[in-house]
Amino acid sequence: MEINNKFKIIHLKTTHSTNRDCVELGKEGKRNIIVVSDIQTKGKGRLDRFWYSNYGGLYFSILLDIKDINVEQINFIVSLSIVDTLKNYLTKDFGTVGRQKPKVFRIKFPNDIIVKNNSSIGYKKISGILGEINLNYGFVVVGIGININNSIDAEINNIATSLKEIGEKEFNKQDILNEFIINFNKYNKLTEKDILNKYKENCITIPMTREGRSSNLAVSTGIILYEAIRQNYNDGNFSSEK
Ligand code: BTN
Repeated sequence: MEINNKFKIIHLKTTHSTNRDCVELGKEGKRNIIVVSDIQTKGKGRLDRFWYSNYGGLYFSILLDIKDINVEQINFIVSLSIVDTLKNYLTKDFGTVGRQKPKVFRIKFPNDIIVKNNSSIGYKKISGILGEINLNYGFVVVGIGININNSIDAEINNIATSLKEIGEKEFNKQDILNEFIINFNKYNKLTEKDILNKYKENCITIPMTREGRSSNLAVSTGIILYEAIRQNYNDGNFSSEK
């Protein structure tokens, strides 16, 4: 599989959090790096939640220069790249079997990728995205966790699933990462209008403002940006560092 080699890929067996690794590299002035780890001991989710990162899942973070990207769109681009990547496995590996309905991957605003189960117990989360922005050093880190071959912790198996669980086989994580990078590069070249249209097609939730009113996508990008900045404050590395 041919991938654009703009990114240097660092593969670790274990780490605290690939987001944390990228933040450290970002402060050293490094850019265009993807850190991927087989497991994470302190995987971070949104809103200070823990992200289960046991062996078999795909956990990686992308370190980007703030000048090279449109910060307001990055969450949309990453969400769409994950959906397209997973959908590709759907056609390649699942198809429609007998009367079984095809499974559909969708975006649940702001950062969940979900999949509809055959058993029709609704949607389960398969992937999450955690964006962090560092304005002092001028970089953005986007962390992505995708449940591939990992077992789902009993505590969350009513709301989360994995590709292995729905595909009933193991998948090659390296191929999935390569395919994600191809899709990510593809979406980075699209116009803002095309990205938003694609996002609307794939998003099942109507974004809401903090006051609970439904909002348009322009407002939503503001919310994502706000969340990314807030996350950075939580890490204590936004306001205090020069
Ligand atoms: C969420 O849905 O709450 C976001 C989860 C993001 C998890 C990924 S796994 C790779 C990267 N490193 C982390 O510590 N978190 C992100």
